[in-house]
Amino acid sequence: MTGLYGDPLRRYRDGQPMNADLVIQNARVLTLAGDAPRRGDAMNDLAILPQADVAVMNGRISAVGPDLAGDAGCRIDAAGRVLMPGLIDCHTHACWAGVRYDELDRLGRGESYLDILAAGGGIMATVRAVRDASVERLAELTASRFARMASLGATTIECKSGYGLATDAELKMLRAIAGAEEMASIRVIPTALVAHAIDKDNPRFIDETIEETVPRVAEHFPGICLDAYCEEGAWSVEQTVRLFEKGRSLGLPCRVHADQFHSLGMVEAAISLGARSVDHLEASTDDDLKRLAASDTMGVMLPVSAFHLGDAHAPGRRFIDMGGALAIATNHNPGTGPSPSMPFTLALAVKHLGVTPAEAIVAGTINAAAVLHLQREIGSIEVGKHADMLLLHTTDERQLVYEFAGDPIAMIIRSGEIVQPGF
Ligand code: NIG
Repeated sequence: MTGLYGDPLRRYRDGQPMNADLVIQNARVLTLAGDAPRRGDAMNDLAILPQADVAVMNGRISAVGPDLAGDAGCRIDAAGRVLMPGLIDCHTHACWAGVRYDELDRLGRGESYLDILAAGGGIMATVRAVRDASVERLAELTASRFARMASLGATTIECKSGYGLATDAELKMLRAIAGAEEMASIRVIPTALVAHAIDKDNPRFIDETIEETVPRVAEHFPGICLDAYCEEGAWSVEQTVRLFEKGRSLGLPCRVHADQFHSLGMVEAAISLGARSVDHLEASTDDDLKRLAASDTMGVMLPVSAFHLGDAHAPGRRFIDMGGALAIATNHNPGTGPSPSMPFTLALAVKHLGVTPAEAIVAGTINAAAVLHLQREIGSIEVGKHADMLLLHTTDERQLVYEFAGDPIAMIIRSGEIVQPGF
């Protein structure tokens, strides 16, 4: 690869005609090429080619540049519309069974999310339903959620376990997620959220999770990222640090849910542990945000949750202004994340986190790829990367984050395949 966009003219050299499975021509291409992750001011840089073509071969991007000529299996004239990388949903809990509609009434009557959890509902209600479900049923339910999320523009989805909270049930969830990935034929990155709540019925729960569940997860899913919910009524900072240290000794990286409702000191601890990301951040102090912004640990904000619970939103604008590297995700789950839609989530981020449309797009593409350590493979339109792209209906990308609950995407291309032709 040479230059910012690779060498788009390489297929003309030596008189060779270009050969491609697919060429999208005459598009406004948001390449998102350049630094990954982007932080601070650089989060406004979409690396736009105002009028260009993109060629795809064998599922990968093979050329990007003006007027790409040559043979192609299929040519699509974008007529100036926006072509951008597929959206990457880097924080979801899309593998679950059961429903939690009763919480709508309880929240409406003034019970808090943490009150519901303390009373044995919330996450624990889903834990009971997941423990009762077969791996096949869980995989089917999860695959149908992945399909909906994909139809709304997600081309890669991270999916956490966390509703098993016992070794075998956590492993069952991770197997169901793998099965669902195959059924939905979409790229899925699993995360082992073995510390999502405290199972009060098991007096050995913390020790068992650290000493038994983590090693079994490492054995069956080597290198998988560990996650924990560090919050009052869930995992303490000290317990979370012990968990992550155990994971590190077994080669498992970590991410953490922190400061959703209370600032407990987990941001600083996560940075010293080299966590890939700290997710939520609604209640973070300015000092913690500054520390995070100055570190290699990314911030992930989840605006659907504050919107759904009617709580304060995370300070996205302040974090970026401090020089932070931000990603944004749906947090799709049955308790705080009832939306499967990345476009809706990014629109909420613009309205409520105070980020610009360009920053929201960076946060949902190349920066989200960086949270998953996949920035060399996905998240931008560059030669050699997976051909995961969205063609919008409009010639201005701001429509993607301006419209609420609409239908901004005309065509979805995943690994070079047109999976939703609607142009
Ligand atoms: O990130 N709060 C912890 N985990 C999820 C919610 C999961 C649930 O309520 O089922 C979150 O918001």
